Amino acid sequence: MADKTIDELCAALLARREKASLGGGEKAIAKQHDKGKMTARERIDAVLDPGSFVEIDEFVEHRCTNFGLDKTTFLGDGVVTGYGTIDGRIVYVFSQDFTVMGGSLGEMHAQKICKVLDLALTNGAPCIGINDSGGARIQEAVDALSGYGKIFFRNVKASGVIPQFSIIAGPCAGGAVYSPALTDFIFMVDKIGIMHITGPQVIKSVTGEDVTSEQIGGARAHNSTSGCAHFFAATEAECYAQVRRVMSFLPSNNMEEPPFKETGDDPARMDPELRNIVPTNPNRGYDVRDVIKKVVDNGDFCEVQELYALNIVTGFARVGGRVIGIIANQAKFMAGCLDIDASDKASRHIRICDAFNIPIVTFEDVPGYLPGLKQEMGGIIRHGAKLLYAYSEATAPKITIVMRKAYGGSYLGMCSKDLGADVVLAWPQAQIAVMGAEGAANIIFRKEIEAAEDKVAKRAEKIEEYKESFANPYRAAQRGFVDRVILPEETRPALYQALLMTESKSELRPKRKHGILPN
Ligand code: HXC
Repeated sequence: MADKTIDELCAALLARREKASLGGGEKAIAKQHDKGKMTARERIDAVLDPGSFVEIDEFVEHRCTNFGLDKTTFLGDGVVTGYGTIDGRIVYVFSQDFTVMGGSLGEMHAQKICKVLDLALTNGAPCIGINDSGGARIQEAVDALSGYGKIFFRNVKASGVIPQFSIIAGPCAGGAVYSPALTDFIFMVDKIGIMHITGPQVIKSVTGEDVTSEQIGGARAHNSTSGCAHFFAATEAECYAQVRRVMSFLPSNNMEEPPFKETGDDPARMDPELRNIVPTNPNRGYDVRDVIKKVVDNGDFCEVQELYALNIVTGFARVGGRVIGIIANQAKFMAGCLDIDASDKASRHIRICDAFNIPIVTFEDVPGYLPGLKQEMGGIIRHGAKLLYAYSEATAPKITIVMRKAYGGSYLGMCSKDLGADVVLAWPQAQIAVMGAEGAANIIFRKEIEAAEDKVAKRAEKIEEYKESFANPYRAAQRGFVDRVILPEETRPALYQALLMTESKSELRPKRKHGILPN
């Protein structure tokens, strides 16, 4: 047989590429579009810089012969993998192709995902996984399960070394949800993203409960109730824009600093409006995001877990172009008290910031821990301990701004000096004490109040006395627990100075394998 010409060989390669690019074929693609979903490749194009994607392993095929599967093979084996850029920075990506056997994961499909995770880790770049899959490929049995195991192992190995993002843009069921759960951020697309361990039918047969997929696994459920997801997107396009935005605050790996960006906002800018947002009356609420937006560059705040544990606000922003991670008590919800969910949400964000060298800025106004049977029996002790642990463990710069209340254990829990805060700033209305003036006066002056003829007047007098003595920032400043008492409008310049001052921070801890995180 005559040797083929180079043109013939090239044409054969192009034909093969064309076939691979169609995944499960045109009909299946149309079905995917009819469901309101993008294809695996369209998704990659939407998340990466235009034209930057380089595909690898496009001709991988499975080698399973069970149940006649050898007669059904597709180039690429149901997942598109490779690398490209976001804002010019390298990222690795895999995108499951539902048009190929429902995006199900078999041995070779998993091997492709493992390859990009290995490349991402070796080269120190983030990895983005787009999930749209029927789960373990049933015909491949234990080989499919092993594939998941290998992915989990790599997710954990890469944890805290490179940022890992999971997008849920289709079904994600059974043990398969644990790969996303092991990554740093889960983005869910409304209506099309579903994540659950067991579906409605299994639940019905085991517990008798009637539930819908949306109820137990939808984007809203996981963003607002379970806390398993971090970002809610109404559409796929919105989701990919969110991924790109979060990326802009993170370094490519734990050995790099987060990306500096010239924002054009003067770090010395003072906003007099800051005097008027937080009422001096400790019982009045306000939206802490109004404070954050006045302090950070151009009011640009990227909130993480916006719909979950509303009593605490977490996110990323920049001050003078430098990235900061924010933890803020939200006085608008439950007076900003700490509960189980808030502790989980905040401690996780602190650990993410610390892992990626992002200074942790705490805006504090906290009345205490939420009382109640539900909290105690839900384990507020071990959940609350996570917050103490995360702050104490973090060696990234830690800057705390006490805006108003800082009472008791929750004062310590919100990154006090004793938990290693590098800089503690306090506003003139700050009250750093064991508890609020009313509660304190009722306890320590109880006898005097009861003995008084006019108990109401006596109580008011004693509350005033306590306020004068302790409900201010100056006692803490006297002892050095507060470094500076500042005017509210001085917050931005003071924060910027603290960021500069702590820029070269280096803190060594005793050598150990790892700590034992309370959970
Ligand atoms: C093999 C699968 C598959 C799977 C779907 N397909 N899931 N093939 N293994 N797990 C195939 C279907 O047979 C079908 O093939 C094509 O993908 C599209 O599926 P449809 O059912 O037509 O799509 P749709 O109606 O949109 O339903 C999607 C679905 C459903 C909800 C995901 O397919 C489904 O329930 N699949 C099974 C899910 C599951 O139980 N997986 C195992 C989970 S346990 P044809 O040829 O007809 O187009 C698990 C363990 C992981 O994953 C453990 C890790 C430790």
